[in-house]
Order: sequence, then structure tokens, then C-alpha cells
Amino acid sequence: MARILITSAIPYINGIKHLGNLIGSQLPADLYARYQRGRGNEVMFLCATDEHGTPAELAAAKAGKPVAEYCAEMHGVQADIAQRFGLSFDHFGRSSSPQNKALTQHFAGKLDDAGLIREVSEKQVYSHADGRFLPDRYIEGTCPNCGYDRARGDQCENCTKQLDPTDLIEPRSAISGSTDLEVRETKHLYLRQSSMKDQLNAWIDSKTDWPILTTSIAKKWLHDGDGLQDRGITRDLDWGVPVKKGDQDWPGMEGKVFYVWFDAPIEYIACAKEWADATGKADAEWERWWRTDKGADDVRYVQFMGKDNVPFHTLSFPATILGSGEPWKMVDHLKSFNYLNYDGGQFSTSQGRGVFMDQALDILPADYWRWWLLSHAPESSDSEFTWENFQQSVNKDLADVLGNFVSRITKFCRSKFGEAVPQGGTYGDREQALIEELTRRVRAYEGFMEAMEVRKSAQELRAIWVAGNEYLQSAAPWSTFKEDPEQAAVQVRLGLNLIRLYAVLSAPFIPETTARMLSAMNTMDTAWPDDVAAALSALPAGHDFAVPDVLFAKITDEQREDWQDRFAGVRT
Ligand code: 2FM
Ligand code: ZN
Repeated sequence: MARILITSAIPYINGIKHLGNLIGSQLPADLYARYQRGRGNEVMFLCATDEHGTPAELAAAKAGKPVAEYCAEMHGVQADIAQRFGLSFDHFGRSSSPQNKALTQHFAGKLDDAGLIREVSEKQVYSHADGRFLPDRYIEGTCPNCGYDRARGDQCENCTKQLDPTDLIEPRSAISGSTDLEVRETKHLYLRQSSMKDQLNAWIDSKTDWPILTTSIAKKWLHDGDGLQDRGITRDLDWGVPVKKGDQDWPGMEGKVFYVWFDAPIEYIACAKEWADATGKADAEWERWWRTDKGADDVRYVQFMGKDNVPFHTLSFPATILGSGEPWKMVDHLKSFNYLNYDGGQFSTSQGRGVFMDQALDILPADYWRWWLLSHAPESSDSEFTWENFQQSVNKDLADVLGNFVSRITKFCRSKFGEAVPQGGTYGDREQALIEELTRRVRAYEGFMEAMEVRKSAQELRAIWVAGNEYLQSAAPWSTFKEDPEQAAVQVRLGLNLIRLYAVLSAPFIPETTARMLSAMNTMDTAWPDDVAAALSALPAGHDFAVPDVLFAKITDEQREDWQDRFAGVRT
């Protein structure tokens, strides 16, 4: 049994996430976690809310709440929605946890011991109108790299370039909009990641199986002109992890906090400790996932994230870990995604454009969304959500292909043989051909799922559903029955077993529906079909089942138009 550690990029606390965020990390990570559990492997799937930094402070201010209270509340909201979307985290933590605070301060101490931290007197933008410094997202302006006019002080959303507030052209305060700004001196800690360039380069070179999207972004930041610069890891803010060296004060750093991008990835580790603490487990239980000296050397660690997060995960976080000199587990595979666009533009949290997770669940169950998003995951390029495409996919793939198959075979059996698997008959050429095709396809599906090829996995799964439909169409038990009821019985028996097989294979994509399929088939047997022929006789003659309610309702043109209008505007 393999042991697989999976993390999804931890979403900012500042509000409910949109479908573009969901498909960019949490949902494909869940697909992979569910698949690996289904294969009988031991999985630790971790996610959390990213609660520090300017996004949290700005959102709390907008909501008129103290930031700690806002974060606690929003964590609850995000946890509830994640659960309703079927995201099967082993723990959904918080980067503001005491565990993360201690671990972040611990890492900073280790980095300083290793001589990797230097103090820098730097220039920060001070706003007269706001009476404060404006780090990161507190400041907006035009990107010097691509000209995007809403670039933020920490990163340009458009071209992914990491920025400093002083890089922005025509800067303005994100709080007041004021341009009455001044550059002032303040002292900060810098992580000397430039001195680790060769080490990081060698590490990235060793990752020959990473997606091109991942390595090309990493290489770009390593080698391009201003590539791997030392980065400030502290900020003049109130909210965050106080700057300390382990549990010691850090002279000169009083009143400052660590930069959110320093403590956020450390939460991947702290989250496992939160899990252990919350469930009364000993430290050894979480350390066996994270410490290579305590059992994690045989763990495979996979990270999921959107492309804008790649530089932080291929360079900054590895620099933290390598620099600590301690035996922490490093990522083995990093799966990154392009962006999902919304109906001719971008999804945008700040502008409330697109469909947000809570709204999606208000109109349709999670599996409709899971299927569309995963089967259209923005892997090789950006992809686009349109209501037409969504309607078409749901109606064809889910209702016509899978739903219809289940309904036809169960209803036909009920009408001719009753609600139990019929006996009699033997396989002929048609059944053998189907088993051969399914065996080939199931092996291909496994290959794509192992490789995290999300779209190809969905296509293969759909082809597996189609094969069953085509079999049913050509075997036509409703005609066979008149001449040869025994032959019809074997066809129906195979069909009912296909429902169980489909439930097992499809569970990572559409877990709620597959649970209903298994319950209709009156079985808890979710064994993976290592041998497809054997799997197709799991439900023996005489086994009772029930006809399930319609699995997927078709989306009507009227509904589609209604939703199109409803979501055209901007959410306030
Ligand atoms: O882009 C984001 O949503 C960030 N909150 C992701 C952080 S991932 C990590 F490093 F913790
Ligand atoms: Zn840019």
C-alpha cells in the first residue's frame, strides 16, 4: 500500500471561492485523493484557509468586522461549502492556528541560524491619507511587465510576475484610492534565496516528470533577469504571525509580522499537526507524513495549484524547507492549472464576476458541477465556462449516457424479472468483446488518473459509460427476451453489474451519485476492478436491488437562459 500526501493550495479567507478557484486546485486534488483511496492506498489530504496578509485585512474591513472574527466566521463558511461540494479533506485547517504560528517562527529561527536571513532597510510606500504603510495588496497600479492596470503590490494577476509595491506604475491605495503616497524607510527581514539558486535549480532539474506548465514557470523565475531575488518575508501589519526567532523575540522586528506567503505554505505542514491535535493523535502520527527521518521517506507528496501559485511552490517554499536544514518532506509532483474563464471574460472575486461555490450549489447538486469542471479542467491552456457548454455536457454525458443507462437496465429488469439480479444464460461474443474493451479502457483510465491527466481521465470514463450503453443498445434485451429469456437474463445481469462497476470507477468524479448507485444496487462492495471480468460478477443471481430515482435531471433551455441572466451581473 502506497502512502500519498496531497495538498491543495489553501484558498484565501476573503470570501466564498468561485468555480475557477475550485477547479484550479481543490477539486482536482479531491479527484486524486478519492482515486488513490479507491485503489486502497493510504491518503492524507490537507487543505486550509489562508488567513493572513492584506486580503484578509481588506475583506474584514469591508465586512466591518475585527479580522480575527471575520476569519473564524469565513473559515466555517468555506468548510461547510467544501463539505457540500464533496471535498474529502482529512483536515481543513487554518493558517492562523497556533500550530502554524509556532512552526512559522521555528522555520524563521532555523533559517536565521543557517545564515539565510538578512536585515534590510527598505523603501515602503506610505499613504498619508490612510496613515499607514501600504504593503502588497494594499496598493494597486499598472504592471511594469505587461501593462495590466489592476496589478497588485505583490503580484500581477495577469502575467503572474511577482512585484514589489514600489515597482507599480501610477500606484494608488487600495483602501482609499489615494495617490498621495510617499516612499519611506522601514526595516525588514529578507530570505537569501538567491544563495540557494544552484540547489533549487538542481532540485527542479531532478523533476523530469513534472508538467511543462510547472517547470517552465519555475525555470523562468530562476533564470530570467531578475529571477531569484532575495525576498522580504516580513511586513508592517498588525494581523499575521508575529516575527520571532523560534520562541525568542527578534530585536528590531517588534510589531511586525511574517509575510503571508512565508507562513501560508508552512500551513501545509502545520495542518497535519492540527489534524493530529484535533483527533487526539500523537505527534508521530503527523510526523510520519512530513518528516523524512520519521517515516515520510516513503511518502509520495503531490501538490495541486493554479499557475499563479507556482513560483511560490517551486522556489520560495522549497527555499524555506531546504534552508532549514531539517528533514522535511519535499514535493514529489506538482500539478498546476491554467485559468478557467467565465463566459467571455475572467472570473473575478474582487469584481464578483462568475458563479461562486455557494450559488452553484443553490441551483444544482455538486456532481453536476464536479463533472463539468473536471471534464473541462484548464490543463493545457485556459478554458472557458459557458452555460451552453455546461448544459450540453450535463445533458449528454450525465443524463443521456450514464443516467439513462442506469435507468433503462434497472427498469427493464424490474418489469421482466423483478428487483433481483436474474439467473441463467452464458456469455457470448458480444459480452466477451465488451469485457475486452472495458479491460483496455479501465487500464487506460488508471494510467490517466495516476498521471493526474484530469481531462483525459474524464474522457476515458465517459467512453467506459458509452461502451455499456452501446452494449445495451446492440444486445437489446427487450427484444431478446421475447425469443430467449435466458439470454436476456445474462445481458441484464451484466448490465446490473456494470452499474456497480461504474459506481466504483466514477466515484472520484461524482461521489454523491455513485453512492446512490451503490445503494440502489444494495452493495457496499467498492473493490477496484483489477480484473474487470471478475468485477462484473460481483452481484450474483438472486441479489436484490432497487430502481433508483432519476440520477441526473436535464437542464432545460429555460433554466439555462434564466441562469445566464442571473449570473451576468456582478455579485455585490
Ligand atoms: O492563491 C491563493 O489562493 C493563495 N491563498 C494560495 C496559497 S497556497 C499556499 F502556499 F499555502
Ligand atoms: Zn503583469
